[in-house]
Amino acid sequence: MKRRRFLTLTAATLATPALLTRRAVAAEPGAPLPIPQVMEVGPGAGNTLTAMKGTREFMSGAASDTLGYEQDYLGPLLRFQRGRTANIDVVNRTDDPITAHWHGMHVPGHLDGGPQLAFDPGRTWSPELPVDHPAATLWYHSHVHGRTADQVYRGLAGMIIIDDPDAVDPLPRDYGTNDFPLIVQDRNFDRSGRMSYDPGMMDRMQGFRGTEMLVNGAIRPTLTVPAGLVRLRLLNASNARMYDFSFNDGRQFHQVASDGGLLPAPIAMNGLRLAPAERAEIVVNFTDRSAVRLVSRNVSSGGMMGGGGMMNGGGKMGSGSDDAPFEIMSFDVGDAAETGPATLPASLPSDLPDLGAPVRTRDFTLNVHTGSMMGGMFNNLIGRDGQIMGINGESYDMGSIDLAVPMGETELWRINADMMVHPFHVHGTSFQVVTMGGRAVDPARIGMKDVVLVDGPTEILVRFDKRAEKETPFMYHCHILEHEDAGMMGQFTVG
Ligand code: C2O
Ligand code: CU
Ligand code: CU
Repeated sequence: MKRRRFLTLTAATLATPALLTRRAVAAEPGAPLPIPQVMEVGPGAGNTLTAMKGTREFMSGAASDTLGYEQDYLGPLLRFQRGRTANIDVVNRTDDPITAHWHGMHVPGHLDGGPQLAFDPGRTWSPELPVDHPAATLWYHSHVHGRTADQVYRGLAGMIIIDDPDAVDPLPRDYGTNDFPLIVQDRNFDRSGRMSYDPGMMDRMQGFRGTEMLVNGAIRPTLTVPAGLVRLRLLNASNARMYDFSFNDGRQFHQVASDGGLLPAPIAMNGLRLAPAERAEIVVNFTDRSAVRLVSRNVSSGGMMGGGGMMNGGGKMGSGSDDAPFEIMSFDVGDAAETGPATLPASLPSDLPDLGAPVRTRDFTLNVHTGSMMGGMFNNLIGRDGQIMGINGESYDMGSIDLAVPMGETELWRINADMMVHPFHVHGTSFQVVTMGGRAVDPARIGMKDVVLVDGPTEILVRFDKRAEKETPFMYHCHILEHEDAGMMGQFTVG
C-alpha cells in the first residue's frame, strides 16, 4: 500500500509544465445546486455508508469516473446528535482500501478513521461513535496514507452536521430552505470534459489546483434562496486551494461559526479566507432580492514557486498575475422567507472552553525536503520511502509514534513552516489559536478550530480528552492533501 512514486523523480518529471498544458473545457455552469440527502445517524442499526465507484457527467456528454459514499460523487449529509451514539456501517465497494475519517469529531483513536483503520474492498467497518461535540459543521473523508489526495479528489468526502438538542440555535436552520451546505472544490477537466487528476512534480510541491469550481459536485451552480436571512455552511474540501470568499457586490455578511461550532457573537465581514479543510458558517441577508455571485480571489501559497493555477473571471486558466475574482456559484432570490429569524442575535450560545495556562510547549516545523526539487540529485534529503514532505525533519512513518501526549493537559503547540503556507490539522480535539503569523488573535473571532493556516509563526492551545492507543493514533498534518500523502504528517497517542 505504500506509495513509491516519489522514488522515481527525475529531472524530466520536474520539467513537465503540467500547469501550462491544462485546458479548461467550456463548462455548463448555472445548473441548480445539488442539496445532499440527509442521513440522520443515531443509536439504531441500519445506517449504511457504502463507498462505491460511479460515473458523473459534470459536463454533459462526458462521464467521469468517480467515487462516492452512497452515490456517484461525494456523500450524504450525516446528521449526528450530541449526547447520542451514532452507529454507522461503512462498506467498501471500491477497488482499494478506504477509511471514513470523521474530521473534527472528538472520538477516540480507534473510531477516528485514520490511516491505521484502512479496510479492504468487500469489508465493512462499523464504528459506534459517541457524539460528544457542540453543534458544528464537520466533514468526513477517506484517509488512507498515500491515497488520500486521489480518493478525496475523486469524491470520497461529505459533510457532517452535529446538532445539540440542549442548545438553542437562534440562526436559520431549515435544511435546504434557509440553511445550505456548500462543499467547495476545484477540479480539472480534460479536453473531452472528463474530470482528471494528474499531479506533476510542481503539483506535488504546491498542492494540486483545478481550473473549475464545483459546489456540492456541480460546476458553478445556482441556488435560489428566500428573501431573508440564509445560513451557508462553507466547507473547503479542495485538495490544496485556498479561497478568499466574498460576494461580487461587496455585500457584508456575518460569520457565525468556525470549525468547532458557533462563535460567541456574529462577526460582520466582507471577505473570508478558508484554507483546505476549514469550515465557516455565514449568514447572508438576501432581503434586497438582488441576485449575487459568490466569488474568490487567488490566494498564493507563497514559497518558491509562486501561486500557480491562476484563474480569471471566467473560471479558466489565466496567464499569471491576473487577480480578478473568479466565480464559485450564484444566488437568485425567490419569495420572502416564511420561516427563520428576521434578525441576527447579538450573541450566540457558544461554549468556548477556558483551556487555562499550558503545562508544556511543543514545536513543529513543516518541511519541504528541498533535495527532492533537484530531481533526486540530493536523494538523502528526500524523506522515508521517497516522501518529499515532512514535519520536524521526518516524513510520516505509519509504524512509528512521534509523540505521546498526556490526556487532559493543556499544551502550547508552536508551528512554523519553511517556504510555503500550510493548513495544519490536528485529530481528536478542537484547539484555540493564540497567534497567527506572529500576531495575537482574539479567540472570540476565531472560535474553536481543528485547522489553522500556518502563514508565519503560529501558536495554538490544545488539550485532548479522548484516548488514542498506539495501534490507532491521532494524526497531525498539513491538509494540502498532496503534502499529507507526501509525508507532511505525524502521529501521536493520547493516554
Ligand atoms: Cu481531514 Cu487527518 O484529516
Ligand atoms: Cu481530521
Ligand atoms: Cu502543506
